Amino acid sequence: MKSTEFDFRVDAQHVGFFETPVAYTKLKGGETLMASLKASIRSKRLVDPGLVRSNIGGWHSDTDMLFWGGPAATKLAETAINIAKRMTHFQDSDVENYNWVARMWANVTSKGGLNHMHAHPGNLWAAVLYIDMGDEGSSPNSSGGEFYIEDPRFPMSAMHNTAVRLIGSDGKPQQYQLELKVEKGNLILFPAWLRHGVRTYTGESERISIAINIDAQRK
Ligand SMILES: [Fe+2]
Repeated sequence: MKSTEFDFRVDAQHVGFFETPVAYTKLKGGETLMASLKASIRSKRLVDPGLVRSNIGGWHSDTDMLFWGGPAATKLAETAINIAKRMTHFQDSDVENYNWVARMWANVTSKGGLNHMHAHPGNLWAAVLYIDMGDEGSSPNSSGGEFYIEDPRFPMSAMHNTAVRLIGSDGKPQQYQLELKVEKGNLILFPAWLRHGVRTYTGESERISIAINIDAQRK
């Protein structure tokens, strides 16, 4: 007969620590703003050969879009900075006692284009706004171009067994990469240290997004 001498009950509480905050927002009524941004990008592209950064293929503008993007670019930067302020705390002072600065550039991705996984060193936050999804395909994600982020703890648990996944407080295994569903008007803000990338885009028409780096220095 089984002993019951050591029987006991466990009251387990599953909690998660060290959250990675991501602001997943959608512009409402932003059509005029996005049309203006798109027009500025079209004009700039006619006179600028672009840069090569994490992008393979497509066109990456210089990072001075705040100088050539007009009032719409300024408005977008202000919006992103306001979100960043709401997601930031400084132990020494209020967020308003910091100078918030943004740099901005445009990404035009053509068929076969992608962005390798990367981070944005030297900044607090990074953001991206999708202003034209190009050719979205006939079914969700059928034209690729998914925006993905990498678990910043990778590969800690996998150092023992590459198949292992930790169960999150939602009861589901935490994967090392997450693809975020994005559509026109989505503005996503994330910590600049969070590695991310864009998978190969296979649509026929160009996809256009705007990236922003945000930093804050004590006044
Ligand atoms: Fe990036």
